[in-house]
Amino acid sequence: MSFEITRTIQDEKVNFKHPSPRFFEAIGGEEGMQKLMYRFYDIIYESDIHNFFPQDREEFDKVKVKNSKFFIQVCGGPKVYEDESGGMDLDEYMIRVHDDFTIDENARIEWLGCMRKALEEQEIDEEIKEDFWNYVEAFSKLTVNKFRNLQSFNPYH
Ligand code: HEM
Repeated sequence: MSFEITRTIQDEKVNFKHPSPRFFEAIGGEEGMQKLMYRFYDIIYESDIHNFFPQDREEFDKVKVKNSKFFIQVCGGPKVYEDESGGMDLDEYMIRVHDDFTIDENARIEWLGCMRKALEEQEIDEEIKEDFWNYVEAFSKLTVNKFRNLQSFNPYH
């Protein structure tokens, strides 16, 4: 599986689609999705972007629980995510949540790298994995809110 990452271009329209329910089924429903996300956050905790997240283990665990619920919902599972969006479109709300943090392309690539690692450990159909990957690869572009001149820097190879 390629797990391709394409560059975020400022102000470029991002087309994304939520993962297919086939992914949710293949990963093992709510329980499987929670396992995947907990693993992902354990990898994040050891990554170069750990400083974006609470350093206190208990607080970090709360983030883990909340994020897992979001991913269960966005993958077509039950609506378990308790958001504070006040009726706002959930995708829009999720972009706004990230505005509280300074996220650049490097942070996005590190985040995706953690997700890639967690996904690689899953023994499910590659095509189904790719469907989930396409969602996170695209949607993560919308969380990037800090840009700099990347001409002399190419993290893609
Ligand atoms: C597909 C892309 C992404 C999705 C779907 C996503 C999803 C989420 C969700 C559901 C939350 C919790 C919101 C809540 O409070 O209810 C969250 C928080 C957060 N995300 Fe993301 N995220 C994505 C990409 C990223 C990236 C690339 C970064 C880079 C650093 C990032 C950093 C954070 C941080 C720092 C928080 C706040 C944690 C806290 O509560 O202290 N996210 N994200």
